[in-house]
Amino acid sequence: MLKVGVLASGSGTNLQAIIDACKEGKINAEVAAVVSDNRDAFALERARKHGIDAYFSDASDRKKHEEEINKIFSDKGAGLIVGAGYMRILSPQFVQKWYGRIINIHPALLPSFKGTDGQGDALRYGVKITGCTTHFIDEKTDHGPIILQAAVRVHEGDDRDKLAKRILRVEHQILPRSIDLFEQGRLKIEGRRVRITEGDSWMKYALPDVLYSEGF
Ligand code: GRF
Repeated sequence: MLKVGVLASGSGTNLQAIIDACKEGKINAEVAAVVSDNRDAFALERARKHGIDAYFSDASDRKKHEEEINKIFSDKGAGLIVGAGYMRILSPQFVQKWYGRIINIHPALLPSFKGTDGQGDALRYGVKITGCTTHFIDEKTDHGPIILQAAVRVHEGDDRDKLAKRILRVEHQILPRSIDLFEQGRLKIEGRRVRITEGDSWMKYALPDVLYSEGF
């Protein structure tokens, strides 16, 4: 069974979505450990509640932080690292070591609105459609080959929180699905593109008024 190491910095709703998908048997994987750079991250509490080893790792010394992440996940036999609301930039050395086995979720349609407030940046720009993206992490920020995307409409009267909530519901679908596709061996990185080979679909879980990329 695929063991997943999760990196989280905040409330951990994406982590929760992964835990739930594993428990429901939607993905043949288990969360082996959670590491956060924020000792107060509720994500750590969520992990503990499910009997998952949860670690705070001080990121003020990035080298030490990454050595700890690497040791914890390697010792657990993690086959995939998932950035689930993890707000740090990983070093090129760390990414090189895990490239192809480390993915991330971003709350905007990359390459638009990279950075730490994709939802707010999109709203302030005045876009009519935004969404979320899962991608392999490479040595640049929010830049690696894209796995899945989903498009979400911006509504009149949306504020940042309303829009972020609408996007978050879809993040909770495409991140577990990306782990599922990885576990099935269906993700083929070909340069900048990720080819998703034939197989099952999660369109039975599709939310109304959301456009999902092929492979979902
Ligand atoms: C999510 O929108 C995630 O994409 C962003 O932070 C938000 C909260 O994530 N990085 P979570 O609830 O901590 O998973």
